[in-house]
Amino acid sequence: MADTSKLWWRNGVIYQIYPRSFKDSNGDGIGDLRGIIEKMDYLTDTLGVDAIWLSPFYKSPMADFGYDVADYTDVDPMFGTLADFDDLIAAAHKRNLRIVVDFVPNHSSDMHPWFIQSRSSRTNPKADWYVWRDAKNGAEPNNWRAVFGGSAWSYDARRGQFYLHSFLPEQPDLNWRNPDVRAAMYDALRFWMRRGVDGFRVDVAHFLMKDPDYRDNPVNPPNTLAFENFKVFGEYDLQEHKHDKGHPDNHMVYREFRAVLNEFEEQSPRYSVGEIHIFDWDEWATYYGTDDELHMPFNFALIGAKWAAQTVREVVENVERVLSKGQWPNYVFSNHDEHRISARYGEYAARTMMMALLTLRGTPTMYYGDELGMKDGMIPPGMEQDPWGKRVPGLGLGRDPERTPMQWDALPNAGFTPAAVKPWLPVTEDYQRTNVAVELIDPTSMLSLTRALIKLRKTTPALHSGSYRTVTGVPDDTYVYVREGAGERYLIALNFSQEERSISVPELSAGRLVLSTLVNREEAVAGTVKLTANEGCIVKLG
Ligand code: NOJ
Ligand code: CA
Repeated sequence: MADTSKLWWRNGVIYQIYPRSFKDSNGDGIGDLRGIIEKMDYLTDTLGVDAIWLSPFYKSPMADFGYDVADYTDVDPMFGTLADFDDLIAAAHKRNLRIVVDFVPNHSSDMHPWFIQSRSSRTNPKADWYVWRDAKNGAEPNNWRAVFGGSAWSYDARRGQFYLHSFLPEQPDLNWRNPDVRAAMYDALRFWMRRGVDGFRVDVAHFLMKDPDYRDNPVNPPNTLAFENFKVFGEYDLQEHKHDKGHPDNHMVYREFRAVLNEFEEQSPRYSVGEIHIFDWDEWATYYGTDDELHMPFNFALIGAKWAAQTVREVVENVERVLSKGQWPNYVFSNHDEHRISARYGEYAARTMMMALLTLRGTPTMYYGDELGMKDGMIPPGMEQDPWGKRVPGLGLGRDPERTPMQWDALPNAGFTPAAVKPWLPVTEDYQRTNVAVELIDPTSMLSLTRALIKLRKTTPALHSGSYRTVTGVPDDTYVYVREGAGERYLIALNFSQEERSISVPELSAGRLVLSTLVNREEAVAGTVKLTANEGCIVKLG
C-alpha cells in the first residue's frame, strides 16, 4: 500500500481562497490572513478539505490585486505580516490542512526594486532582468498584445527602449532566459518551503519563455477557439499566440523548478500546479514531464466547455486517454477569473457540476463560495475594481462578480466584515439565503450536498483513487460513469437535461442510491434510476 500522506495532493480536495474576499479580521473591509485563521474550523471540520490555495498576499501596489508582486518574500500589510503567515501555517498543519501559495513568476510589479533598478539604465546589474527591446522602425518591437488590452510593450524614455508586459504595463515580464532571474525566483520558492508551504500554484505557467527572436504572432484563423464559455479577451483573441507563450523551453524551467521542490521532498511532500491554458491535450500533458516538471497543469476544459453531457464526457475521455500511468488528472470548474458555476448554468446544474467535480478521477480544486452556490455579484457603478474590466471594452465588469465576499451568515455584509464597514466589493444580493449559517441547518442545501460529497469521496477509495470507465447505452443528454477501487464500485449518473431521464444499464441490476444532488433520497436500486431535471445521483453497486 502506497504511503497516502505522500499523495495528499492526489487524494485530497483543494480549496481556493481569494484572501481579499474570505474574511476580514480587522474591519477594514478587506479579507486578510488572520481572517483565514479564524475560519480554519470551517475549512477542516465543516467542509473537510485537505488543502487551501491562497491567491497572492505578497507585498503589492495591487494594480492587479496582488498579481503584481513588489516583494516575493513578504506579506502585504493589507493582509497581515509574515508572523501572521507563520501562525496560519501552524494552525493549518495542526489540523493536517496543507497550504498552497500562488507563485507569480512571469512578471513582477513595476514597483519591484528589481524593475526600478532595471529601468534605471542599460548597464545596471539588473539591466537584463526584464525583457527590454529596441524599437522596430520607430514603433513597438513586434505585434504582441497584452492580455489586458493594448500592446504588450511600453516605452521607457530613460532606457530609450520598450519593456514587455504580457498583462498590465504595471506588470513587466521577467526575463526567464537570464539564469540570475531564475536563481532569484527559485530562492523565493525555498523561502516559502522553509516556512512550511506545501505547494505552489504557478501563475500563467506557460508564459515564462518567449520566442528568443521575438517574431510576430500570426493572425488567429477564425473559430479556432476550442471552448466557448471562457471570457472573451477582445483583440487578444485575434492572434494565434505562437511566439509569446507555450514555448518548448518552458520545460527546461519546470525541470529546474521541480528539482527545487524536490530539495524539500524528504521533509514533506510538495505539490505544484500550473495555470496553463492549453487546449491541445497532448501539448497540455507535456507539462507533467516524466514526473519531473509540474505535478499537474490545471485542467480548465470544464470551465470553457459547454455544460452538456457529450461535451463533458469527451473532455473526461480525452484526459483519460492522454495521461500516461503516473500522470494524475485534475479538474477545476471555476476560479477568481471566471464566472461562478451557479452563474454559468443555474442553481441545479451547479449541484450536478459539484457532483462531477468530486466524483471524477483526479484532484478537484474548488473555488470559495461555490460550495454555497454563491452567484456572481452585481457591482454597482462606481464600485468596479478589476483593471481588466476597465481596460478591455466589452468585458463588462471584468472579474469583480466572482470575487465578492464570502457569505458567512445573514447579517449585513454576510459576516465578512462588520455591518458598519464598506467591503471592498459588495456581498451578492441573495446573501440572506445563500450563506454558511443558513445552509448548515438545511439538510438539502448546496453546502450540505458539498459536505456530503467531500465526506463520501474521502472515505471511499473507489472515488478518490479508483479507476474510471464511461457507461454507454444511456440517454444522450445524460452522462454516466463508474469508479472502481478497493473492491467497490460506484456509478455516477448526471442528468444534463431539463426533463426527467431514466437510466437502465446492466451495472444497475443491484445497488443502493447513496446521494442525490438534491440531498433528498436514499434508496435501493434494482435495474433503473430515475433522475429529475439536472439531477445527479451516486449509486453504490452490488
Ligand atoms: C492569471 C491570474 O489568475 C489572474 O488573476 C491574473 O490577473 C493574471 N494571471 C496575471 O497575473
Ligand atoms: Ca482586513
